[in-house]
Amino acid sequence: MPETETTYQLPRIGSPAPAFTATSTHGKISLEDYKDKWFILFSHPADFTPVCTTEFVAFQEVYPELRDYGVELIGLSVDSVSSHLAWIRNIEKNFNKEIEFPVIADLDREVATKYGMIMPGESQTETSRAVFVVDDKQVVRSIIYYPLTTGRNMKEILRLVKALKTTDDKGVPTPANWEPGDKVLVSPPKTVKAMNEREMDPNLECIDWYLCQKELRE
Ligand code: BEZ
Repeated sequence: MPETETTYQLPRIGSPAPAFTATSTHGKISLEDYKDKWFILFSHPADFTPVCTTEFVAFQEVYPELRDYGVELIGLSVDSVSSHLAWIRNIEKNFNKEIEFPVIADLDREVATKYGMIMPGESQTETSRAVFVVDDKQVVRSIIYYPLTTGRNMKEILRLVKALKTTDDKGVPTPANWEPGDKVLVSPPKTVKAMNEREMDPNLECIDWYLCQKELRE
């Protein structure tokens, strides 16, 4: 008889974040604990490895700013809690950085499987560098994947969170390389009337009927 395997619907942008309960460096944590909060769940391949160590230092460096934006951080790999604890103590000793966010010990790969963090073509045993941004309604808002050998860019992760929150708060899309303080875009018109009205709007700078930008007013 073939062994039965549970198949999961992998999370996609706009879909509910898969439920989880896991052991972490902060004790048991579950999706429920993050109700009404934004959070970033990120995976790394393995403790005590060079790229991952630089990333952990960098994640800790942006963590205070993420928290200022109301976003929590959770790390994950398939290593044990003891390994995580030894590694974060090692990071503290070598980099003078206390890792303040919880790190999930996903030994049975349950969370990694539900979130699609393992890329079997690259590694059957390690989690890739996945980043899931989940909003306060527990909806997946963005997904980023990096390979084992490339460290992630924390500035981009911060920028992404700021752009998502600006879109939610002000109802505007943001252009390429947008940073807070830059002009924002205006969603394209859906009617002839709306298209014509744009030409009269003194607050818009339009390059063409579908491509208009404006200052973001508080
Ligand atoms: C690293 O973090 O350096 C690493 C981890 C797994 C594979 C390759 C590099």
